[in-house]
Amino acid sequence: EKGEYRHFMEKEIHEQPDSVQHTLSEYLDLVTGAAKPQAVDFAALDRIQIVACGTAFYAGQIARYAFEKLAGLPCDVEIASEFRYRSPAVSPRTLAVAVSQSGETADTLASLTWCKAQGLKTAAVVNVHSSSMAREAEVLWPTHAGPEIGVASTKAFTAQVAALLALAVAAGVARGRIDAATESELVKALFESPRLIADALRMGDSIRAVVQDLAKADDVLFLGRGAMFPLAMEGALKLKEISYIHAEGYAAGELKHGPIALIDEETPTIALAPLDDMFEKTASNLQEVAARGGPVIMITPERAPDLHGAGIRRIHAPDCHPLIAPLVYAVPVQLLAYYTAVQKGTDVDQPRNLAKSVTVE
Ligand code: M6R
Repeated sequence: EKGEYRHFMEKEIHEQPDSVQHTLSEYLDLVTGAAKPQAVDFAALDRIQIVACGTAFYAGQIARYAFEKLAGLPCDVEIASEFRYRSPAVSPRTLAVAVSQSGETADTLASLTWCKAQGLKTAAVVNVHSSSMAREAEVLWPTHAGPEIGVASTKAFTAQVAALLALAVAAGVARGRIDAATESELVKALFESPRLIADALRMGDSIRAVVQDLAKADDVLFLGRGAMFPLAMEGALKLKEISYIHAEGYAAGELKHGPIALIDEETPTIALAPLDDMFEKTASNLQEVAARGGPVIMITPERAPDLHGAGIRRIHAPDCHPLIAPLVYAVPVQLLAYYTAVQKGTDVDQPRNLAKSVTVE
């Protein structure tokens, strides 16, 4: 039941401190500060192939940054509907990982079955633990988001990201790329995310203050770099799904290669700008947008330097370790879509034309 909330989506957004905490506890030990041993021998792998659809695909793309950086493990991420039909070349020491809330998405399941038939090791990051993918994969990597009712995925997404980031730490340890001190620093950082997600949930008022403008837009651009790039695409997907506003997520560094042509006074840009080592680069992209008269909403920590660009509005997000920024920044991205949809009066939990689970092609 929805309880005090107006929609399941709103309730599920607010459940994220708990769902992320439960999911992290599956993979990490808070007391010892260590990643738990896994059934997969990460040291024996030379590649990870993630297959997924929609929001789960973006979770996979976020994970790719972590698997490559922390574990030195090459990681490909592909939309399952493409992967299953293009006869991909896979090396034998590849681990195929299906990521799915339902565990029933037809294309993702077919990709997993195909990988298994090729003799690859298979794993499934799924939220429904009795699902077809959970049964099909050799290794089950559960998320603990609980039942997700809203068609727009929120808590399942952050649970997928949490599980995959924790697994990337485990892979880094297993492959000798992370020493004990770094392991405990990363585990500690991950366990700080539920509290910071709770802090991010308090951004509701400042987000409500910008949605009136957003609801009037026909097109919205989301920008980010690093793991904030797939989160930008996830933000665009959320806005499209429930508010029916056309939105695109772009890597901020790609702006000059095309999307800057879209910028005008009516096209808001939402920038995901945590204070990481890419901040300055993102900031200069935003100044370019502002210089062309485009309204910018910059989601950034309070201590981030001021950009002095006319038309740049800031929404302050909790400051955090760069590893967990996709978990913390997921919240304002979801709230932006949610409040914009509420402002427009759409059917938030049952958006037009969409099904919760796409079990046919
Ligand atoms: O159940 P799955 O995670 O496999 O579903 C994948 C997509 O259909 C799903 O994430 C979809 O994109 C959502 N509506 C996103 O909010």
